[in-house]
Amino acid sequence: MASNITFHEGTVSSDERVKLLKQQGVTIWLTGLSASGKSTIACALEQHLLHLHRFTYRLDGDNIRFGLNKDLGFDEKSRNENIRRIGEVSKLFANSCCVAITAFISPYRADRDFARQIHDKDSLPFVEVFVDAPLSVVEQRDPKGLYKKARAGEIKDFTGISAPYEAPEKPEIHINTAETDVAESVRIITQYLVNHGYIS
Ligand code: PPS
Repeated sequence: MASNITFHEGTVSSDERVKLLKQQGVTIWLTGLSASGKSTIACALEQHLLHLHRFTYRLDGDNIRFGLNKDLGFDEKSRNENIRRIGEVSKLFANSCCVAITAFISPYRADRDFARQIHDKDSLPFVEVFVDAPLSVVEQRDPKGLYKKARAGEIKDFTGISAPYEAPEKPEIHINTAETDVAESVRIITQYLVNHGYIS
């Protein structure tokens, strides 16, 4: 961190912002293997919440790597930095009273825990959603042909094949996408948000 910097508090508190905008910010953190369904669920959830006139925004792993994180690859350090940045960015969105939906593999437990901790520190809700499907299923789906390439040794450090995925131990929500369709996944997450008073 740089030295000689000073944090400037605004004149509107977080509680006041929530009252004025009539919406609580929250980060919905989707994690899972490539092709597990993160992006599909994130898109459908975003659409659903927007149709309920909730302020929401989706941050997607592939998309963010075209811009903000275009300097990062898939080695462990790059993934750590990818998730550190997205943890910080999603926290800013949540602080602005947005329902931030993130869809990143985020394979390392410590990185996801970091994202959770910085939300906790600012009293912002963080909902970890394990988008779970067995490797055999995602490999069968292989919509981008990446598993095939990884098996052929054409992609290195590929999650689930030649790089690790540390499954969440206590996610707030666990969805098995081999058994649960997209509409039901959206319903489960939305119900969680309503039950916890994050959306009305
Ligand atoms: S991570 O692990 O959270 O930093 O990854 P993320 O930013 O979510 O990016 C995952 C998408 O990048 C593509 N891709 C790879 N994934 C895993 N491992 C390797 N080596 C790799 N190379 C490219 C792939 O399209 C991932 O998208 P999803 O939506 O997960 O399939």
